[in-house]
Amino acid sequence: MRVKHWLIVTVVALALWLLSGYQMSWLAAPDKALWQVASFPIGVGCDPSLLEQRPGYRQVIKTEYNSVTPETEQKWVSIHPEPNRYSFTKADYLVNWAVANGKRVHGHTLLWHQPDALPKWLKEFKGDRAAWEKVMKTHIETVVGHYKGKVKSWDVVNEALNDDGTLRMANHHANPSIENDNGSIWARNLGSDYIARAFQYAHAADPKALLFYNEYGQDTQPLRVAAITKMVADFKRRKIPIDGLGLQFHLDLNATEERITRAISSAEKTGLLVHISELDVLVSNWKKNPDLVYSPELQKQQGAKYKFIAQEYQRLVPKKQRYGITHWNVGDGDSWITNWMKLKDWPLLFDDKYQRKKVYYDYREGLKSIK
Ligand code: XIL
Repeated sequence: MRVKHWLIVTVVALALWLLSGYQMSWLAAPDKALWQVASFPIGVGCDPSLLEQRPGYRQVIKTEYNSVTPETEQKWVSIHPEPNRYSFTKADYLVNWAVANGKRVHGHTLLWHQPDALPKWLKEFKGDRAAWEKVMKTHIETVVGHYKGKVKSWDVVNEALNDDGTLRMANHHANPSIENDNGSIWARNLGSDYIARAFQYAHAADPKALLFYNEYGQDTQPLRVAAITKMVADFKRRKIPIDGLGLQFHLDLNATEERITRAISSAEKTGLLVHISELDVLVSNWKKNPDLVYSPELQKQQGAKYKFIAQEYQRLVPKKQRYGITHWNVGDGDSWITNWMKLKDWPLLFDDKYQRKKVYYDYREGLKSIK
């Protein structure tokens, strides 16, 4: 009788356990992070101050990503505030944290024309061509040298071209997409071949560092893409060291699959490493709209876009050329789109409390290896 009693109890307990769904969580595949699903590095452009101050921000970077890019702290205005003074502290915090946590570091950026990213002294600097060359060369040697062996790669030059593929130079109106186009302090004072020399100086400062040209608009501006392709061919011919191309990919819902495919493919065809370097997908489509609602339909479209990018990157870029996909900022609340561009938007994979959004899962699904 006693055996029969225990047998019934065991069977009932087992049945309850099976019905509880508990076994599903135990049997279900472990919940993998983005970098664990992908067959290439998944990075994030981030702010060392937020990394230090916000546990939720830090936890997402620690768990979900295996590469980091300093959002602002390696730009001239932060790292070289006075002619003879460098300020490495903030960028060092991020680089040292990344190295301690086994993350790759992608340096950003040695030369960018954006006035907000330039210190006052440089914007007021008066000198001949040789004096400007010395300023540029010394900066690159000092910054790249400081991070030698810690920063694996650099955006050596960022956004040097106009929409029409010409070199960004004078205060120029070749960029209908930019309201007050400031041209380029670098091209104006260093001449049109400054890009090549910047790559040579960076290579001399750290021969092991991988060197990238970083740009936006590859999905909408074929003349820009043609100019990049031409520049790469020219560099190869002249044996100017260049290893990769960065496609910023600040996209919106109007970015068609055909344009995304063409943009990635154009970079792959150069044979260089391909880095989607600053990915976000705007649901505002760059329009100021205080009444915009993050509707299920917008989320569905955004998720499909993220998923497509993840799959198309794998389909088009051979493994040996995949430098990875880097997202610009962590949560919607710290996105440059909401803060710097002042748009009401939800462009990222995590919300303003650093919780995974629905689009996160669509994207992670797209990262699953297709080949
Ligand atoms: C942005 C930062 O995210 C902002 O915090 C900063 O105020 C301006 O620059 N393309 C680039 C990045 O290459 O460096 C820019 O980052 C976004 C556009």
